[in-house]
Amino acid sequence: MPTLSWANKNLPHPIPSSLELDSIIYPQGRGYLSRDAEQRPENHLVMGDNLAVMSALLLDYEGKIDLIYADPPFFTNRRFAARIGQGEDSRKPEHWKLAEGYLDAWDSIESYLNMLYPRLYLMHRLLSPNGTLYLHLDWHADAYARLLLDEIFGADRLLNEIIWVYHGPSPIRKAFNRKHDTILVYTKSKDYTFNADAVRTPYDETTVKTFASSSKAGFGKVPDLARGKVPEDWWYFPVVARLHSERTGYPTQKPEALLERVILASSNPGDLVADFFCGAGTTAVVAERLERRFIASDKSWRAVHTARARLAGFSTTPFSLQVEIQSKVDAISLQDSALVTLSEGVIHLDPSLLPDLLYWEVDPCWDGMLFHSAAQACRPRQKAPISSQLSIPFTKSDSRISVRLVSINDQLLTSHIRE
Ligand SMILES: C[S@@+](CC[C@H](N)C(=O)[O-])C[C@H]1O[C@@H](n2cnc3c(N)ncnc32)[C@H](O)[C@@H]1O
Repeated sequence: MPTLSWANKNLPHPIPSSLELDSIIYPQGRGYLSRDAEQRPENHLVMGDNLAVMSALLLDYEGKIDLIYADPPFFTNRRFAARIGQGEDSRKPEHWKLAEGYLDAWDSIESYLNMLYPRLYLMHRLLSPNGTLYLHLDWHADAYARLLLDEIFGADRLLNEIIWVYHGPSPIRKAFNRKHDTILVYTKSKDYTFNADAVRTPYDETTVKTFASSSKAGFGKVPDLARGKVPEDWWYFPVVARLHSERTGYPTQKPEALLERVILASSNPGDLVADFFCGAGTTAVVAERLERRFIASDKSWRAVHTARARLAGFSTTPFSLQVEIQSKVDAISLQDSALVTLSEGVIHLDPSLLPDLLYWEVDPCWDGMLFHSAAQACRPRQKAPISSQLSIPFTKSDSRISVRLVSINDQLLTSHIRE
């Protein structure tokens, strides 16, 4: 079988690394009061470089993840900016600003492959015997990645090459507009999960009419018009555009509809779904909604904050935030205690904190060690400002209250009331 080779190609041993539990988030307080001190959530958001994160996870999760969706940088040699604030309207620049998103810049294709190869290898190890990997790329590197996956999974384990097509403006005038991505789907074994019935879509009207009018249509094969068809290997979903409600402002965010099809087809309720390049957390949000468990990680704090805020807003189950120890950043204590105050079961933030605030949360019964987030406020994408108040109905008169704030420039601030 042909394989891809390049200077310095090698598979490093999994690097020594470990994860530290940073906090447990109870979205909108659900489950906070009834929590069991010994029990840890089944869903995890992890901050760190995924080579270290996946190496650390091998101990507990080798052969246990049912589905991995991977959407790494595409080898575009670009810097992607995040959009923070509301509306992203160029006529109203005062409502939003650009901030650091993520970098997709490489010295050479070799350095890009040196990033991708060991990570794909670790994903293969983490997959369960009937697990599936979806690797999302585009024309920049998909041909190289296919050879790597043939080598790691076996060429006969390619299940599909999915083409995701979309529309959008393009500056290109001397070639056809490049408006598709490629998703390479590999299974760990011949015995894999594929729920065809969960992803059926209606036949188009012309097909329905043709079959209604002619018994000879389809060369004797009558499609199941009532149940619909199993989708082709080319998918149309619109990109997440400026005015879409699911938009977070994190760059290259993928549509929830796309992840929904991936997750429904290749996992079952209760299965473990992972995304180690999670960006805005799309995979985690959809997995949670479809009652799968998730592990989502990213090396950028902005991505992790975005995913956490999104999950805090929509999730119904608690999740942990873990940090790979080399990526740990210390929180800064707010010196001025008048900026965060408690009155009648409500935490109030001073208005001066709000313009730069992305997210904040409260642990009303802080044990001095682990932060249990019982109430969260996120900066809304449309119209309204971030809330300056959070109600905490569960505080006891002698309990310590901890408040954590995340600023637009990724700073972590803490303030403790009744220390
Ligand atoms: C294409 S974006 C993912 C977008 C995501 N699918 C979504 O819907 O928002 C790629 C992400 O990979 C992350 N990333 C790049 N290299 C990484 C690494 N070595 N470890 C962890 N994350 C990485 C970037 O920070 C970025 O958020």
